Amino acid sequence: MNNRTLAVETTGAVGKEVILKGWIHVRRDMGKIIFIHLRDRTGQVQVVFGPGECPDYEAAKTLRDEFVVEIGGLVAARGQKNVNPNMPTGTVEVQARSLNILSTAATPPFPLEDTKNVSEEQRLTYRYLDLRSERMNENIRFRSRAAMFIRNYLTRKGFVEIETPYITKGTPEGAREYIIPSRLHPGQFYVLPQSPQQFKQLLMVGGMERYFQIARCFRDEDQRGDRQPEFTQLDLEMSFVDQDDVLDLTEKLFTALVAELCPEKKITTMPFPRIPYAEAMKKWGSDKPDIRKDKNNPDELGFCFIVDFPLFEYSTADKKLVNTHHLFTAPQDSDLELLDTDPTKVKGKQYDFVLNGFEIAGGSIRIHDQELQRKVFKILKLTDREIETRFGHILRAFSYGVPPHGGIAPGLDRIVMILRNEPNIREVIAFPKTGDGRDLMMGAPSTLPASTLRDAHIQVRKDRKDSEES
Ligand code: AMO
Repeated sequence: MNNRTLAVETTGAVGKEVILKGWIHVRRDMGKIIFIHLRDRTGQVQVVFGPGECPDYEAAKTLRDEFVVEIGGLVAARGQKNVNPNMPTGTVEVQARSLNILSTAATPPFPLEDTKNVSEEQRLTYRYLDLRSERMNENIRFRSRAAMFIRNYLTRKGFVEIETPYITKGTPEGAREYIIPSRLHPGQFYVLPQSPQQFKQLLMVGGMERYFQIARCFRDEDQRGDRQPEFTQLDLEMSFVDQDDVLDLTEKLFTALVAELCPEKKITTMPFPRIPYAEAMKKWGSDKPDIRKDKNNPDELGFCFIVDFPLFEYSTADKKLVNTHHLFTAPQDSDLELLDTDPTKVKGKQYDFVLNGFEIAGGSIRIHDQELQRKVFKILKLTDREIETRFGHILRAFSYGVPPHGGIAPGLDRIVMILRNEPNIREVIAFPKTGDGRDLMMGAPSTLPASTLRDAHIQVRKDRKDSEES
């Protein structure tokens, strides 16, 4: 049956009989008259139950917040002095003629409208209730529109959306990986990808030329407000391009996205400044500078690219030479000779994309020459055996004709967080983890029955938390 009228549509239905479906947002009794605000995915509308006017009036007396109902009624214009200017449907009300209670509801553990003072533990334990708030509802819908905009934009530019595996082999991006034991191959493991980095490069070998994916990435690292163990990247890769091509595309995409989805926001500097790493460090002491003119203005967006990063650095922990982005990043042509003499002076064809002081994307032009790739592996002190077991497949692929290629991966969560003026990425993810990596609603992580562990060839050490007995 699809004769339902949505809350927002009632303003155009004065004088008509309608059927509304939704949740009781609030109920107020004024003498004998019962007023409710009915909420659905489009907003709220006021419904009035008067004794004698609605045969289901007695049932209306039992309504409580968050009951799910179907209400039949007549849409009427409100008198001038009863118009509610704070409500998009404030010019009308629905005079109820019938009520059907579809689901009763227990009292929510916290007020759904104003969750500012509710603890995050509570909100995440009852995330399905938290999602009913206007704030969360709008954040999640905005995120969906942003993803759709990106899909349409890139598809029009000749990109192909391709899914790459989540159950795969490790790819080095600097974070610890989540591992999955193989049941069929005892003692062997898959890992969840930190990003689709190797697959997107192999797709370029596969002739796809322009790939994108709104990809989930997994990193077992310590959490912060702008980090989650699983998060989403707009991952993209292009063949036959140089650094400026990737940055130009990124700039155009995000300029168009802001114009379409947040016209109230102003971009500080156009075109987006491309600032050398050394200059950023000198001027701001940071490689993610906040270049806004007015840092307190939530409607200002200071986009910039940081370029000319050093390709290698000495790790603070053990003073070993490590790559600053990932080890597929190409050195700048003018610095190739320094690879042999002073690798720390080599700059990479590598860039970060920064917005309001947050790193929102990283990317690079990749090495597409097997010999150069081998040389970089050697500078990083990988043994021949390590090179073969970890990267043999990619070197082999490159022996069959590989186009020059490069890409970038904007973090969708961080971008949506900033565009929605939210303080952390959990506010723009439907089901995020807590700061210590737990899903309070589902109760994850959890122990597993011993039989499940046996199947996966896992024995939990006794000095760790025991598994459940099956
Ligand atoms: P990188 O590691 O710089 O690059 O990641 C790209 C972007 O992903 C986002 N991001 C995160 N967002 C939320 N939680 C996290 N834990 C998290 N980690 C990263 C950030 C970051 O800028 N494969 C390369 C990209 C490439 O070279 O094309 C990569 O993953 O916004």
